[in-house]
Amino acid sequence: MKKDLKDWIVPWLYTSREYNVGILDEAMANPGTARLMLNENPIPPSEKVIEAVADSLRHGNWYPDSFLRLRTKIGKMYGLGPNNVALANGSSDTIDAMMRLFLQPGDEFMLSTPTFELFPPRAELCNAKVVQVPVREDNLNYDVDGMLNAINERTKLILIINPNNPTGVFIDDADLDRFCETGVPICVDEAYLDYNPDRPSKVDLIRKYPQVFLSVTFSKAYGFCGIRFGFVLGTEEMIAAFNRMFLPWNVSRMAAAAAEATIDNPDEVKAKVEHNNKWMVVFTEELKNLGLKPFPANGNYMLIDGTMTGKTTAEILKAALDENIYLKKIGEIHGKTGYFRVTPGQDEENERFIKFIRAYFG
Ligand SMILES: Cc1ncc(COP(=O)(O)O)c(C=O)c1O
Repeated sequence: MKKDLKDWIVPWLYTSREYNVGILDEAMANPGTARLMLNENPIPPSEKVIEAVADSLRHGNWYPDSFLRLRTKIGKMYGLGPNNVALANGSSDTIDAMMRLFLQPGDEFMLSTPTFELFPPRAELCNAKVVQVPVREDNLNYDVDGMLNAINERTKLILIINPNNPTGVFIDDADLDRFCETGVPICVDEAYLDYNPDRPSKVDLIRKYPQVFLSVTFSKAYGFCGIRFGFVLGTEEMIAAFNRMFLPWNVSRMAAAAAEATIDNPDEVKAKVEHNNKWMVVFTEELKNLGLKPFPANGNYMLIDGTMTGKTTAEILKAALDENIYLKKIGEIHGKTGYFRVTPGQDEENERFIKFIRAYFG
């Protein structure tokens, strides 16, 4: 008996949310419009990285190995060994693998909302239930009590992004410990930690709490969105589990070569972080002067509360687009519209953003 293709495909494919990537094609087709909406790094890879990638192509006919030298270097950055590091094709790869590792159909994945919008669909594609606990209404911090109260016997994975995207806030150490004490597996996503050179990673948690792992990406401070590279840090048992779930060749030789060349030249990342942080100070000052409320800039993005201006988020984004600037849409938070998010671009693009906000909100 012949069935439609749709009837063969797992039904939760059609009930899962979709991550919308349409903006990527749109931005590619409009190179004159500043890409301030995606938490990308505006500074392209250095010649050293390009040469390392070109050199890696000499072995492009061989399958990638486990990159022991690279894993050893990464491990050392965190006081760990190479077997505490699983390499990933960007942290989206980790997100996907962690859902498949911990969630059976009907299990619950818990996170705070608003959030990076790829998380819910990847859990839903495992036929898991996504439990989204809104941030606190007063300060948009994690609603720690709300999340802890929502844990039940079906909760199999909890996400803590630190600093959080899009709110930019860090969770208190004591609150993070409260999550760890529950014994439920926890992903601590440190995608943006590199923008805070004075803040140590929470990697030590894995010694006390073996169910905790960290997700790190080179997409942000290292500027690898298009190259694709990230990793998981955890106990050797956790890493072995991730390595079974990841595809054997999830990281290409080119990405690994680019990552190693960047680790070997730390000044490059330092310069990228300084560029970002310098502009964040300028943005914060400008926005405050205009009566808007910028949230902490602990990553390469800044959430801006413009609810007091009476403009909707859609209106603000449209006005920015008219000035050749893409900004990130933030849905209503606690029923209020007027939030948006910006990521520093190159100098001229940032000056364009400042000119826009002065003219539009001034
Ligand atoms: C918190 C968080 N985690 C992970 C990612 C995914 O990054 P990538 O897959 O490029 O490493 C993002 C992207 O914006 C993010 O905001």
